[in-house]
Amino acid sequence: MPLPTLLAPPAPLHVDTTPDHVAIIMDGNGRWARERHLPRTFGHRAGMKAVREVVEGAIEAGVKVLSLFAFSQENWQRPPAEVSALMQLLEEYIARETSELAGRGVRVRVLGDLQRLSPTAAAAVAHVVERTADNDRLVLNLFISYGGRAELVEAARRVARDVVEGRLSADAIDEDAIGARLYTAGCPDPDLLIRTSGEQRISNFLLWQLAYTELVISPVLWPEFGRQQLFDALREYQRRDRRFGRVPA
Ligand code: FPP
Repeated sequence: MPLPTLLAPPAPLHVDTTPDHVAIIMDGNGRWARERHLPRTFGHRAGMKAVREVVEGAIEAGVKVLSLFAFSQENWQRPPAEVSALMQLLEEYIARETSELAGRGVRVRVLGDLQRLSPTAAAAVAHVVERTADNDRLVLNLFISYGGRAELVEAARRVARDVVEGRLSADAIDEDAIGARLYTAGCPDPDLLIRTSGEQRISNFLLWQLAYTELVISPVLWPEFGRQQLFDALREYQRRDRRFGRVPA
């Protein structure tokens, strides 16, 4: 008798078609906490554990770049107590995980408007970035105080400065010239974007870089998203037919 579908083993992950770059909008911490009658900050703390598990899963799957949207520019408008709890969690994550990340060959980069960070958060960020700078097994991009439109505005300013100061001619402005002035310069565009908690929005994340990225929306709230859910999303990606606007060969 065939196994009922629920008991069938998951399809294997094909290592050769693992996406190089996976980006994640980690959403649903607040709802996870509300379902348990807990303060929102408990949801963020549980979300930090999910970050740990997903980083491990990404290494295991052979992902090269993992980009996590941890704190948006818009998040500064949340109640001060929640902003402060999120910043403390970031510092705690760095304090707890830096050695482990460094030992596992993870290079951490932190991208966003970092001038808005408190001196202690900025120092923690500088420490983990510097300590892991020589690693190359997995690049972990943490987007903090980040907004996609703000990143494009900043890139436009850089282009304008380079034109005014004679380093770039107006006719030489092309997609590469813009890409080279984004926070993500030198990093390949995401192959896969996962958003958790069922919401179907980009929310000002990587507006330029997501042009041809495959989207997977997971209904799972972020604190419950782990290695298995990551692998499910990678399998879903492996079933996609990426055409980049062209017709199939
Ligand atoms: C969105 O859930 C999540 C955030 C705004 C913060 C993400 C932070 C973490 C996962 C923990 C810390 C991360 C690191 C890298 C240390 P939400 O609060 O919008 O949830 P809701 O939509 O259910 O209210």
